[in-house]
Amino acid sequence: MVRSVPKAADVVGVPFLPPARLSTAATRVRGALAGMTKRMAPPPVAILEGLFGLLDHRVLVALCDADVPDLLAGPMHLDDLARQAGADRERLERLLRAAAVNGWVRFDRRGRVRPTPFTRFLRRDHPGGWRAWVDFAGGPEITSAVARVSVAPGTDPFLAANGAPFFDWMSEHPDRWRTFDEAMSAGARMHALALLAALDWPVDSSICDVGGGTGQLLATMLDLLPQATGTVLDLPDVVARATQRERLTAQVGDMFDAVPAGFDTYLLVNVLHDWGDDDVATILSTLAAAAGPARIVVVDADHPKRPRDRIATGADVLMAALTGGGRERDGGALATLAAAAGLRLVDSTRLASGDWAHELRVTAPRAAHP
Ligand SMILES: C[S@@+](CC[C@H](N)C(=O)[O-])C[C@H]1O[C@@H](n2cnc3c(N)ncnc32)[C@H](O)[C@@H]1O
Repeated sequence: MVRSVPKAADVVGVPFLPPARLSTAATRVRGALAGMTKRMAPPPVAILEGLFGLLDHRVLVALCDADVPDLLAGPMHLDDLARQAGADRERLERLLRAAAVNGWVRFDRRGRVRPTPFTRFLRRDHPGGWRAWVDFAGGPEITSAVARVSVAPGTDPFLAANGAPFFDWMSEHPDRWRTFDEAMSAGARMHALALLAALDWPVDSSICDVGGGTGQLLATMLDLLPQATGTVLDLPDVVARATQRERLTAQVGDMFDAVPAGFDTYLLVNVLHDWGDDDVATILSTLAAAAGPARIVVVDADHPKRPRDRIATGADVLMAALTGGGRERDGGALATLAAAAGLRLVDSTRLASGDWAHELRVTAPRAAHP
């Protein structure tokens, strides 16, 4: 069993991943303070602040497109920053002022622009790799899908905006799929540390990461479990660019058809939320057929009865934008779908990332009555 999780600075760019209880408490406090701030705002202000979120997104993307986080290694005069970024000075200043209100940069008393800890996370050389999320979320295929989110039943905004469902469209746009993979990898490395800290892992674990992308989660886990082996199962284009390292194999497969047997843990990290209930039932049935005595660990965002976490509600609305039926589910909804697939939910563990790891096992076949 892993007792400590070293090298968080190298893997995700923070000195350590806090224990799940601490990060949950911090999220609750932040949520309560944000709620208090919102309640203090006169309603017209709250309305405009909500609508201006659209502009925050654009400011962040535009500043990253101009490589401002990479150029802003220390305090800089606007003239120098504008020259190096090839930017119009006045436009740059306006966007930076909006960024400063969000804490993304700050202005000092001499009028210079300074990086904040947040700015550093957006640099291309930051080990966390979160810049890829800006590159992904700023793509026109994403913003056009988000612009079509509505309360109409049975819609797939991504399909309506781009002419094909998400993964089909990605296979026709390999550059954008690579950017998506990189964004997923940032979260995957963090999830590797969070899963190692939260669950028990035999030293010689054999792990199959279903829909595991380019294998960053497994690569990070295998670094810290030196006798473990892993297989990432994903679509052909993704497997073709999978991370190469010892003890990690990448296998082409379709989780709707078959998953290889013989592993002691199967992971489904941020996978089920891409799919509607019928598809999830099929995926879980495929897993149930392969798992035998193994555990199946499903990691998805928090979905509490009373919404309080902006990341969790944001992830849910993003699924509403990018998929035809994908959604965040709580343990109860997952347990119902799992039961129909011959699986039972045996445990749910909060992760330091704020997500939940739900452990499923194949329901023991009932003994026949004599
Ligand atoms: C949201 S990403 C999550 C990636 C990774 N688990 C993570 O958390 O970083 C979903 C993954 O499912 C993969 N996928 C989609 N359809 C699949 C299928 N039919 N069989 C296997 N993998 C699939 C995608 O290629 C993608 O890598």
